[in-house]
Amino acid sequence: MIGIIGALEEEIALIKNDLTDKKDYFISGSTYTVGKLFGKEVVITKCGVGKVFSAIASEVMALKFNVECIINTGVAGALSENLTVNDVAIGVGTVQHDMDTSPLGDPKGLISGINVITFESDANLTNKFERAVKDLNINYEKGIIATGDQFISDKTKKEEIKNSFNAIACEMEGGAIGHVAFVNKIPYIVIRSISDNANGDAKVDFPKFLELATTTLYHITKRFLELY
Ligand code: ADE
Repeated sequence: MIGIIGALEEEIALIKNDLTDKKDYFISGSTYTVGKLFGKEVVITKCGVGKVFSAIASEVMALKFNVECIINTGVAGALSENLTVNDVAIGVGTVQHDMDTSPLGDPKGLISGINVITFESDANLTNKFERAVKDLNINYEKGIIATGDQFISDKTKKEEIKNSFNAIACEMEGGAIGHVAFVNKIPYIVIRSISDNANGDAKVDFPKFLELATTTLYHITKRFLELY
């Protein structure tokens, strides 16, 4: 079974619409819908915004649904100059940009205990999403996606995250999903369409382009599942 996590209803609504043989499970405050999607068995959930909610959903998918992989779909703010609204960021890895024990001598973003900064995504999932995006003729970039419990709408903060982690996009869930996937040894990937440029315009752009960006995501996820 493939696990699909989105933070917002908009990020999973279209793909959920195509589910057949549906069954809902209510666990730890969220609904997990199991069903068939383009011939594949999947479980989909709207986890809520931020790292804790996405970690809960990932752990539920690991322990209760025994998923073979986790896909995090959603929108993101662009950090890379090569990306703008409705382009796509394919995560080759995720970092938690707000994890910082640097006063103790650690590098920024280091997750103590497991000594990891970047949670690498699965190469096979990355290749399949790249194929899907190419098939659909969508502008994309592969790179690091930076996660934190902050909506980025400030040029200075944007540059700081971009330069600290060489990240191409920022969002609020992927790094926690990568963390849970890592400790449970489950392949995962983050795929994000760009809703804003994480600058001063982001608070206006994000609601304005959410529908456009999530529609793009829907087509990509559909193509990916056909290729899977
Ligand atoms: N998701 C979409 N845009 C974002 C931004 N600018 N910051 C954090 N998460 C986002």
